[in-house]
Amino acid sequence: MKKNIIRLDTVDSTNNYLKELGKDGCHEGTAVIADKQTAGRGRMGRSFISPEGGLYMSVLLKPEHDNFDFLLITSAAAVAVCRAVEAMTDVSLKIKWVNDIYLDDKKLCGILTEGVFSGNNTPDFAVLGIGLNIIEPENGFDENIKNIATSLFKKEIPDNDFKLKLCGRILDEFFKYYENLSKREFLEEYRKRSFIINRDIYYISGDEKHFCRCVGIDDNCNLIVEENGVKKQLGTGEITVRTRKDNEG
Ligand code: BTN
Repeated sequence: MKKNIIRLDTVDSTNNYLKELGKDGCHEGTAVIADKQTAGRGRMGRSFISPEGGLYMSVLLKPEHDNFDFLLITSAAAVAVCRAVEAMTDVSLKIKWVNDIYLDDKKLCGILTEGVFSGNNTPDFAVLGIGLNIIEPENGFDENIKNIATSLFKKEIPDNDFKLKLCGRILDEFFKYYENLSKREFLEEYRKRSFIINRDIYYISGDEKHFCRCVGIDDNCNLIVEENGVKKQLGTGEITVRTRKDNEG
């Protein structure tokens, strides 16, 4: 895959920026990285706080029709990020289905894959966005996330080009999987890196909190949960690992 990495200091959102380039016909594999986002977006309509100190990157994808599977793309990207980070540092990373990467029980990275449609049900292209905390922001993490977020390094990045190198490595790892996405070569590792299999979790659907146990991840990267003895597949949504407090009520 031909790499073309566009570097920006500040942007509203690298996903937004790349969507516009995509509409102008830029090629698959084009990536955008920024040091800071002023309107970073997360899953479920949330904002993604993106101060300086993070790597914010997006990649343009134009999969074949049959391969347009957001869950597989996001899961392959999660494994690619873990492999790239581990190759360049001495940390060890885990994945929380479907799109969060954890370091020592705290969130290090989030992934958001979005489609761009111009009419029919098949997207014209997709934008894979990755937000990774490299160092702690100067004034610490935002109040809302300070207890759940972490960064790769405390204060200093090992070298000036670290972010660019990491971005390149993530792209290399990701495209190895993406080029044969239907073979699911990332899946075994995705499962091994999951820290929620065989744990009690809950998820919220409508107004209801569902208490269940995560029993596995199927071949399409759906989460398999067991609730009151009945197995169910979850293809989207957010799960939370239960604490004793959750179990008490
Ligand atoms: C999440 O954790 O909810 C997903 C966060 C995805 C954030 C990345 S940062 C780069 C790209 N641009 C965005 O606006 N969002 C994604």
